[in-house]
Amino acid sequence: DLPRAFTVPLPVPAVLEPVRRTADADEYEIVQRVADVAIVPGRTTEVFGYAGTFPGPTLVSRRGRRTRVTHVNELPVPTVVHLHGGHTPAASDGFPTDLVLPAGMTEPPAARGHAAHGGHGAGAAAGDVVSGRRTYDYPMQQRAATLWYHDHRMDFTGPAVHRGLVGVHLVHDEEEEALGLPAGERDVPLVVCDRSFAEDGSFRYPALDPSMLAEAGVLTEFADGVLGDVVLVNGAPWPVLDVDAVRYRFRVLNASNARRYELRLDPPPPQGPAFVQVGSDGGLLAAPVGHDVLRVAPAERFDVVVDFARWPVGSEVTVVNSLGEGGAARVMRFRVVRRGRDGSTVPDRLVEVEELPEEAARTTRDFRFERGRPGQPHWVVAGRPYDPARVDADVPLGQVERWRFRSDLHHPVHVHLDPFQVVRRGSGGPGAYDAGWKDTVDLRPGQAVEVLVRFGDHAGTFMLHCHNLEHEDMAMMANFRTA
Ligand code: C2O
Ligand code: CU
Repeated sequence: DLPRAFTVPLPVPAVLEPVRRTADADEYEIVQRVADVAIVPGRTTEVFGYAGTFPGPTLVSRRGRRTRVTHVNELPVPTVVHLHGGHTPAASDGFPTDLVLPAGMTEPPAARGHAAHGGHGAGAAAGDVVSGRRTYDYPMQQRAATLWYHDHRMDFTGPAVHRGLVGVHLVHDEEEEALGLPAGERDVPLVVCDRSFAEDGSFRYPALDPSMLAEAGVLTEFADGVLGDVVLVNGAPWPVLDVDAVRYRFRVLNASNARRYELRLDPPPPQGPAFVQVGSDGGLLAAPVGHDVLRVAPAERFDVVVDFARWPVGSEVTVVNSLGEGGAARVMRFRVVRRGRDGSTVPDRLVEVEELPEEAARTTRDFRFERGRPGQPHWVVAGRPYDPARVDADVPLGQVERWRFRSDLHHPVHVHLDPFQVVRRGSGGPGAYDAGWKDTVDLRPGQAVEVLVRFGDHAGTFMLHCHNLEHEDMAMMANFRTA
């Protein structure tokens, strides 16, 4: 039995303390381990957790201060950590074959692909494989933003993230702090994901091989992506948060494997937009954007301010998902419990956002995200299934390029290393959710989206891929090499 909606208090992941601070760096250690957590009343759910928690602890970095995170793998499977949205050198970017084996495992398991079920089975391809632990080195030369970290293991990202390998990583800077946005306990990450539960309380994931060692892929009927009928926020089912009648800043992250959301507040505020967006994937916007509805595809982040002073004290404000049915139609609830003093503001101008000049783009690249042909894996990019050893595009550093993504169905397209700017969606300009620096863009069926990219530094091989995690595991990825 599931808990009644809006009865479990919203948990907020703990902020991780560094194990060491040096003159220019903060060093952290995270043990990835199996843990039993309480989600369903009277049952425990086994998770793979960063520091044994789901979501993992929140990391907080300062722009310009190097962050080193040592991950110790005490799980029964290989792992790879990717800092999503991080401007990270290739060696620490979490390339899917750069495995960290469990201590004692000496060789990567030769996971078999299973084209009929969508797995592509390049899992044994040689990468930079280590045993026991790896230190990821993040320069953090990047703007204040809502990043997140998650598993990125070749062929098994879907099941690994579903089991719990996800966490938030915030970057702060002075520019952001000067604005006076809600902060401290009024700056809250909301990690939204859907899960289904088996009778015994375990997560239900339709993997061909639940051990995640021998065979990649999901049962064929899940090739579109694995959905759940329970919405978790910060790991709790349909939680409730008591708020003062003041402004709050929420870092909304869609950490679902495949579900898209359209979030609304019910009842809506008597006037003004429900959500005032101040930032997107890659950091703060030039100016706030009001939304009555937030449409959030997997891996996207919306940094929004909600002013609860607009509802009477005593109100219950429910976050609903108009794209979902049943349990997936509701997300969480806020209870406006008391008046409060509010020293925060949302200025009309936020930060300077450089606009990439379209006329500077001399190269246009096309990436089609679509079904594979018969005999190919289920999903491909530009007609080819992923091969970790192949470079699909050679991209010069420091130059603006136009990348054109086309899509047969819904595909949330993510580019590693540096964010991009959306300049065209379909036949129009950028859409309502495309403002600012993005690293993931929601492609709608049959749509073409054009973005401008410029990779500043870090030569090496990086990837772009669909962030529907089942699509990703079914070969919907490509590599680009910067030089
Ligand atoms: Cu959020 Cu390549 O991943
Ligand atoms: Cu996709």
